[in-house]
Amino acid sequence: MQFSTLKTLDNSQLETFNTEYINDKRWEIIQENIDRDFSNGKFRFLDIGGGNGLFADKLLSNYPSSEGTVLDNSELLINKNKFNSKKALICDSVESLSLLKEKYDIIFFNWLLHHLVGSSYAESKSNILSALNSAIPLLSEHGRISIYENMYDGLILDGLPSALVYNLTSNSAIAGITKKMGANTAGVGVCFLSKNQWISTLNKTDLELIKYSDDDKWSIPVAWNVFLHIKSIRCGHFWLMKPI
Ligand SMILES: C[S@@+](CC[C@H](N)C(=O)[O-])C[C@H]1O[C@@H](n2cnc3c(N)ncnc32)[C@H](O)[C@@H]1O
Repeated sequence: MQFSTLKTLDNSQLETFNTEYINDKRWEIIQENIDRDFSNGKFRFLDIGGGNGLFADKLLSNYPSSEGTVLDNSELLINKNKFNSKKALICDSVESLSLLKEKYDIIFFNWLLHHLVGSSYAESKSNILSALNSAIPLLSEHGRISIYENMYDGLILDGLPSALVYNLTSNSAIAGITKKMGANTAGVGVCFLSKNQWISTLNKTDLELIKYSDDDKWSIPVAWNVFLHIKSIRCGHFWLMKPI
């Protein structure tokens, strides 16, 4: 799978990801899907962009028969992982997925895909597709892919906020301003998509969508509606299966 050169965040930007985005409601969605499709609680997982490993730790403690691997290209975040004999750590980029020899029952992408930023908006969207296509061959026979992402839906032009946010955050000349406006990825970029854009990206793969779950809409400043053409932002969860 072809990736264009990925831009990377610096350690001060990565440090902000030393947290856990899976709250109780989001965890319930994950559990519901796992309990339906892996009812004996036995599965092997890969958490791509799994950072500090808190999500992997939660899976391992709730599903004692599971085992997992956290893959992340940030040494800073990988080093925050607590030891667990059932958790393997790989400090590498999603670009190296084809080197992995194991098969996995569940591959998680929790807020990783929007960070696969290349030197243009088109390249960033193509990197997202390459990451998904690189993961598919790693799935076991009944494998599932679980994706949490942010949905940036446009007011009239559905994909416009995604392109605007990418262009503003990736522009290093105005990084000082975008940082002050709260963009942690200022100077590097971020490629959030609308729900429809995420779905059309997934439709370009062989994956089959089993279930989509919506989170609550964020409350956002009116300026974001006006200047970024944003109708709504929320997290969404996609649970997908490998083609049979
Ligand atoms: C927004 S954080 C999400 C962390 C974690 N998945 C969670 O939900 O708490 C994005 C993560 O993706 C990782 N990441 C970014 N680019 C990556 C790449 N090319 N390969 C692997 N991991 C990457 C970052 O280091 C970071 O840990």
